[in-house]
Amino acid sequence: MGFARILVCLLFYSSFTTISVAQQAFKCTAGKACRSLVGYKSPNTTSISSIQKLFGVKNRHSLLGANNLPLSTPSNYVIREQQVIKIPIPCICFNGTGASNKMPIYTVQPDDTLYYIANNVFMGLLKYQRIQQVNQIENPDLINVSQELWIPLSCSCEKVDGESVVHYAHWVEEGSTVEEIAEMFGTTNDTLYRLNGIANNSQLYAETAFDVPLKACNSSVREDSWDSPFLVPNNTYFLTANNCVKCKCDAANNWTLQCDLSGIKPSSWSTCPAMQCEDSSLTVGNTTASSCNTTTCAYAGYNKDQTIFTTLATQSTCPVTTAPGGSPGNFASRIGLSWNYLFISIHLICFLYIFFN
Ligand SMILES: *[C@@H]1O[C@H](CO)[C@@H](O)[C@H](O)[C@H]1NC(C)=O
Ligand SMILES: *[C@@H]1O[C@H](CO)[C@@H](O)[C@H](O)[C@H]1NC(C)=O
Ligand SMILES: *[C@@H]1O[C@H](CO)[C@@H](O)[C@H](O)[C@H]1NC(C)=O
Ligand SMILES: *[C@@H]1O[C@H](CO)[C@@H](O)[C@H](O)[C@H]1NC(C)=O
Ligand SMILES: *[C@@H]1O[C@H](CO)[C@@H](O)[C@H](O)[C@H]1NC(C)=O
Ligand SMILES: *[C@@H]1O[C@H](CO)[C@@H](O)[C@H](O)[C@H]1NC(C)=O
Ligand SMILES: *[C@@H]1O[C@H](CO)[C@@H](O)[C@H](O)[C@H]1NC(C)=O
Ligand SMILES: *[C@@H]1O[C@H](CO)[C@@H](O)[C@H](O)[C@H]1NC(C)=O
Ligand SMILES: *[C@@H]1O[C@H](CO)[C@@H](O)[C@H](O)[C@H]1NC(C)=O
Ligand SMILES: *[C@@H]1O[C@H](CO)[C@@H](O)[C@H](O)[C@H]1NC(C)=O
Repeated sequence: MGFARILVCLLFYSSFTTISVAQQAFKCTAGKACRSLVGYKSPNTTSISSIQKLFGVKNRHSLLGANNLPLSTPSNYVIREQQVIKIPIPCICFNGTGASNKMPIYTVQPDDTLYYIANNVFMGLLKYQRIQQVNQIENPDLINVSQELWIPLSCSCEKVDGESVVHYAHWVEEGSTVEEIAEMFGTTNDTLYRLNGIANNSQLYAETAFDVPLKACNSSVREDSWDSPFLVPNNTYFLTANNCVKCKCDAANNWTLQCDLSGIKPSSWSTCPAMQCEDSSLTVGNTTASSCNTTTCAYAGYNKDQTIFTTLATQSTCPVTTAPGGSPGNFASRIGLSWNYLFISIHLICFLYIFFN
């Protein structure tokens, strides 16, 4: 009997924990959709095409680009057990948090439970309660074989400290620390604490998704372009303008996006349009150098009328005086405090309940 009570308390406690965590992380209030990334640690040795299918990634090139794999990678390319693959997802903001927009769609298999789907198929990237919530399932124990479920993966379109970034749902390894994660992704521990609404490492939960902002390369893409905001993070590439243009981000290149003709067949146009810069002999990707400057014909976006915009971008390699920068924003999580207060209260109630019955 005592055991059952402890169990009830534990269950209550753990569902509360998940709710409080979900309230804080992956805050998303932006009006516009964006691209986001999710880290998936494959439980099995599998192929890149199985992962593409599981996550419903429409364009295989975007999966290859997010992992910096060559465009020629075959679909049976092996993903090892425990290997982490970055999954590109379209993100929408909804009710203050971000979710992968109506994808992946998972078809329920015999013996599946929502808990198994969340924790074993999607490796704890989301809580089963989120699947229950968005699919409006009243009783989580009642799901049917062949039923199709939307799996709302965590994401965000929010700027961080005024900068447009790509949010990465990093899957936390057992025993890792916020400082390690900050170092791994070129951000600061302070930013990660603030963004995830936690105060210290004891609030970092293993095998859950942790919001990591990835700095993106600066691009010349116009705001009215169909692919705006065009954000490509370090060491990844992205095909855009119906696959006509391939843009790569390399931090070592001063965080300047490098776009070239992709050389592959466009997805919905019969051919790729001209991509020559005005008043010049350069096409997208070409560069000329003068004594002090390099001029590049840069990709600047596209529209539905099969037009690709270009612009001449001059990068000065002359020595320049650097202006002092830095604008520390403050998304401080005051909410964190009241949640913790509730948390402790429940802890106490459970404690009293178990020991005085
Ligand atoms: C929106 O979030 C609140 C809690 O922040 C929750 O109570 C409510 O059910 C959510 N609404 C929808 C439609 O998911
Ligand atoms: C892993 O592979 C085994 C055997 O191939 C399969 O039964 C199992 O469902 C797979 N697990 C996941 C999570 O896909
Ligand atoms: C699942 O099956 C039950 C019983 O057969 C049925 O009442 C219910 O509508 C089904 N739910 C869905 C989502 O298909
Ligand atoms: C960018 O990616 C490269 C290759 O993975 C890595 O060596 C480098 O540390 C990264 N730089 C930043 C600032 O993230
Ligand atoms: C966070 O980073 C700062 C500077 O990089 C460092 O001084 C500080 O000790 C770190 N905090 C923790 C808790 O490690
Ligand atoms: C971590 O932060 C929470 C909330 O501020 C606090 O209650 C807890 O004591 C801290 N734990 C450690 C190990 O510092
Ligand atoms: C990004 O590029 C634009 C022009 O293309 C420039 O005005 C801006 O200063 C650049 N920002 C950074 C952070 O380099
Ligand atoms: C990056 O910028 C610095 C100065 O701003 C310059 O000295 C350097 O050559 C640039 N590197 C590249 C690869 O453009
Ligand atoms: C521009 O780049 C293309 C390949 O993308 C190359 O064939 C062409 O010769 C280059 N033109 C100039 C002027 O550099
Ligand atoms: C380099 O570019 C700047 C504008 O970005 C221009 O004012 C300057 O004259 C150029 N210098 C050379 C040597 O072309």
